[in-house]
Amino acid sequence: MSSHSQAITTANRIQSRIDRQLTASTKNLRNRASSSDHCASMLPLPCQSSDIENETCTTPAGKASSGCRTDEPLLGTELEKPILRWAGGKSWLVKHLDRFLPKTFNNYHEPFLGSGAIFFNLRPGNKSFLSDVNSELINAHSQIREDPDGVLQVLERFRNTVDDYYQIRETTSSSPTEKAARFIFLNRTCFNGLYRVNREGEFNVPYGFKSYKQLFDPDRFRRLSELLKHATLWCGDFEDSLSNVREGDLVFLDPPYTVSHIKNGFVKYNDKLFSWGDQKRLVSFIEKVRSRGARYILTNANHESIRDLFGRKDTPITVCRSNVIGGRGAARGTIEEYVFTNVNREESL
Ligand SMILES: C[S@@+](CC[C@H](N)C(=O)[O-])C[C@H]1O[C@@H](n2cnc3c(N)ncnc32)[C@H](O)[C@@H]1O
Repeated sequence: MSSHSQAITTANRIQSRIDRQLTASTKNLRNRASSSDHCASMLPLPCQSSDIENETCTTPAGKASSGCRTDEPLLGTELEKPILRWAGGKSWLVKHLDRFLPKTFNNYHEPFLGSGAIFFNLRPGNKSFLSDVNSELINAHSQIREDPDGVLQVLERFRNTVDDYYQIRETTSSSPTEKAARFIFLNRTCFNGLYRVNREGEFNVPYGFKSYKQLFDPDRFRRLSELLKHATLWCGDFEDSLSNVREGDLVFLDPPYTVSHIKNGFVKYNDKLFSWGDQKRLVSFIEKVRSRGARYILTNANHESIRDLFGRKDTPITVCRSNVIGGRGAARGTIEEYVFTNVNREESL
């Protein structure tokens, strides 16, 4: 056996061990039925964003959420899927977002961009300011905007196989296009679309063994590229986005969840990524958005601590969604989340 094949075999063995550990963690998560919707950056536990099938409904907070309605969406029936799989992704919210959206707004801001599920479906008419603390993610969106065909050309060289995956995972590049292609490829083919890096900042999520009819849809790359042309993209903390917010703007906020739903408390690992202190910073950020005469929409966990923190001025609306975690045959349940907004009912769509 060549030294290259030996290295791959050893890597595969290590990954199988990690996979087994991840599967065990997944079982724990399923038992807790709570942690499936949290942002994954550097998250050492798996999130099943890509395995979740959802339906949503909205009820005033505190009311029983049984009998969920799935009303016809006003935003448009065709859901534009993002290219990236992102834990905590809000594709499921899109079809009911029209309940919260103001009829008109000026510029749009999304400082926890993730996969961009909300932006790509909202397609704001005016200028958009999109940011995230994850620089690889921002580079990927920037390259999709600037040179979708260049990114696709690199992606054409990659195959969705264990060998290709681990080889590509080992590579680094200084070319923004190559970096974007590597990030997108690993995101699509890794375990559950997780994003996790080690202390050295190296991506270390194992191969996902996920098969696709079509790994990349070139038309989608070009469509999303066009949509991104109206946006300013940058990498940074959410507070930095305040400088662009003006009267009449809309700010959509989807932070990582620090506490999980209803009965459970702190999300063990997310607390390191987005702490309770960060949630408090977000409260002051929202106050500043409000004082500028702008509107905000915030999604967060349905938990009393979140209601107490963010609900001083705006009553939370409970959004519930049914979900299947882990795909076919797995447990079905309902997860409730909160939406806070200063958009009045009369001025929403
Ligand atoms: C729940 S995800 C957003 C998901 C997104 N709405 C979607 O549909 O894909 C939260 C995002 O916040 C980013 N993030 C974490 N801490 C941040 C911070 N302090 N400032 C800005 N972004 C942050 C993460 O990198 C992650 O992409």
